Amino acid sequence: MTSCNISSLIIGFLVLAFIQFTRCNTLTSNYYDQTCPMIESTVTASVKKAMLNDKTVAAALLRMHFHDCFIRGCDGSVLLNSTGTNQAEKDGPPNISLHAFYVIDNAKKALEAMCPGTVSCADIVALAARDAVHLSGGPTWIVPKGRKDGRISIASETRQLPAPTFNISQLQQSFSQRGLDMKDLVALSGGHTLGFAHCSSFQNRIHNFATTQDVDPSMHQSFAANLRRVCPMHNQVRNAGANLDSTPTTFDNRYYKLLLEGKSIFTSDQALVTNPTTKTLVDKFANSREEFEKAFVESMIKMSSITGGQEVRLNCRFVN
Ligand code: HEM
Repeated sequence: MTSCNISSLIIGFLVLAFIQFTRCNTLTSNYYDQTCPMIESTVTASVKKAMLNDKTVAAALLRMHFHDCFIRGCDGSVLLNSTGTNQAEKDGPPNISLHAFYVIDNAKKALEAMCPGTVSCADIVALAARDAVHLSGGPTWIVPKGRKDGRISIASETRQLPAPTFNISQLQQSFSQRGLDMKDLVALSGGHTLGFAHCSSFQNRIHNFATTQDVDPSMHQSFAANLRRVCPMHNQVRNAGANLDSTPTTFDNRYYKLLLEGKSIFTSDQALVTNPTTKTLVDKFANSREEFEKAFVESMIKMSSITGGQEVRLNCRFVN
């Protein structure tokens, strides 16, 4: 065989490998149409049932998807249990307050009975987050599917999640490392229209903020006073904290309106009004729920397309 033939063989192989690679990593809306047509209704049923019993479930599912996608891509790595030799993401500090994993387990169990070994846990999380938003009064959208589940989950990697004390440039860096821009940052922060935060997550703003100011001056005064009552300096109440906006079970644009009044919970929320680009977007989303919803959907699809896994797990808590 001539060297020319060998090199065209190699090139041919590389082209095929590349096509296969991109195909494996391309998500599609009809991914399970032939293999598991009941996937969407099954996940929705599991989310609906849990939300009826517990009003905190929707927020938990939305945050779960975000934390999954930001570490190793949306690969269900956040669902894996720690083992004797490995502390998993789930047990990393920012994830201790994640919950509602049983909603994913229930959906997976039902799907395994219908279409064994077919639906990835990562896809279930993405669908559950979408359903959580919709069932809370927010928009719905078509979720591209075909994610694979990862085999690695390391607690210390949760340090790569953005912290609530981040300023705008730290937030921008964290998002851009994942291919997300300033618009995605502002739109996705709107996820804080749902849910709750523990005192420790905003302690920095209400006690010993700076040498000359005990409280973050960008925070509305009586709002800060309330937070200080609920979360005293040496708080002993483990579950003490505050809702992220005044309608914590409704997916609306209230979060942005409150942000403009200095009534946001985290430094990272308030940071969005410290930069002209992000401030313009905050104004826009505060003024129009439609604009917020449109941007949120676009950014969710972008975030949830960060892929990473290799297999379809049989049990979401364990690698195959
Ligand atoms: C921009 C950077 C972000 C930071 C620094 C951040 C930080 C936090 C923190 C510290 C909490 C409270 C945890 C606790 O005290 O228990 C929280 C809650 C929450 N976050 Fe974020 N977050 C960010 C972005 C997002 C995104 C992109 C989403 C989803 C699209 C999201 C959805 C939520 C939800 C729904 C909750 C409430 C969880 C519950 O009630 O169980 N966050 N976030």
